[in-house]
Amino acid sequence: MMTSPVLEVSNLAVRYGKIEALHQAAIEVGAGQIVSVIGPNGAGKSTLLNAIMGALPQTGHASGRIAYLGEEIGVLPIERRVARGMCLVPEKRELFASMTVEDNLVLGAYRRKRAGERNFLDQLDHVFQLFPRLKERRAQAAGTLSGGERQMLAVGRALMGKPDLLMLDEPSLGLAPLIVKEIFHIISALRQTGVATLLIEQNARAALQISDYGYVLETGDLALEGPASELAENPRVIETYLGLAKKPV
Ligand SMILES: Nc1ncnc2c1ncn2[C@@H]1O[C@H](COP(=O)(O)OP(=O)(O)OP(=O)(O)O)[C@@H](O)[C@H]1O
Ligand SMILES: [Mg+2]
Repeated sequence: MMTSPVLEVSNLAVRYGKIEALHQAAIEVGAGQIVSVIGPNGAGKSTLLNAIMGALPQTGHASGRIAYLGEEIGVLPIERRVARGMCLVPEKRELFASMTVEDNLVLGAYRRKRAGERNFLDQLDHVFQLFPRLKERRAQAAGTLSGGERQMLAVGRALMGKPDLLMLDEPSLGLAPLIVKEIFHIISALRQTGVATLLIEQNARAALQISDYGYVLETGDLALEGPASELAENPRVIETYLGLAKKPV
């Protein structure tokens, strides 16, 4: 059976004033897939995610086609995209620092509550299962969490909204290798819930390891793409993004 992909982006261009930060981007994310976009600082990774979410700053202007579950959504405001099941965990995690872990999670279900869903908190147990540390710290103020725990909370809060498309902007940013491993393991496990994940990362190795498909974004252009396992073997990717470990010392 052929079904339309969860996300299908084509000819997407974004400019900030006169500067075009993203040129003619085309990406696709299928149901239950993890797709990653890797690339260096300033390549346009956050720009791509923000454009898909409708969360560009006022100075940003996107053109092109963004289809979600087969429907063009490029003109919808961010709230309508959220209401349809799209969720972005932005680079700045935007937690409510003085509120507890649990209250932050409950807020993640706010849209479902407002939509009149009776069991809007039904994901809480699942989130606590995925992140036992958040359960232990449910009464702790979010602002006092470690960087890794904050990242877990940001992802957990996104899951409370039961998204169909989860977009993560550099979940490994600033985290120690062990925590990165833990978080990527959890993202990988989410596949079983059927959620489609678009993952933006500079940590190419970790991202490609858990992804089905990958894209390389360089100064606004999608320079390379392919199944994640093939990209990880690509000499250019190895040289530029995975190289360190393979270089002789
Ligand atoms: N609001 C803005 N106004 C003008 N230029 C912007 C704006 N936001 C981003 N840019 C520019 O667009 C380009 C892409 O930025 P973007 O934040 O998308 O990169 P990135 O790949 O996410 O980088 P990083 O890995 O550092 O987060 C950069 O050259 C940046 O300076
Ligand atoms: Mg970024």
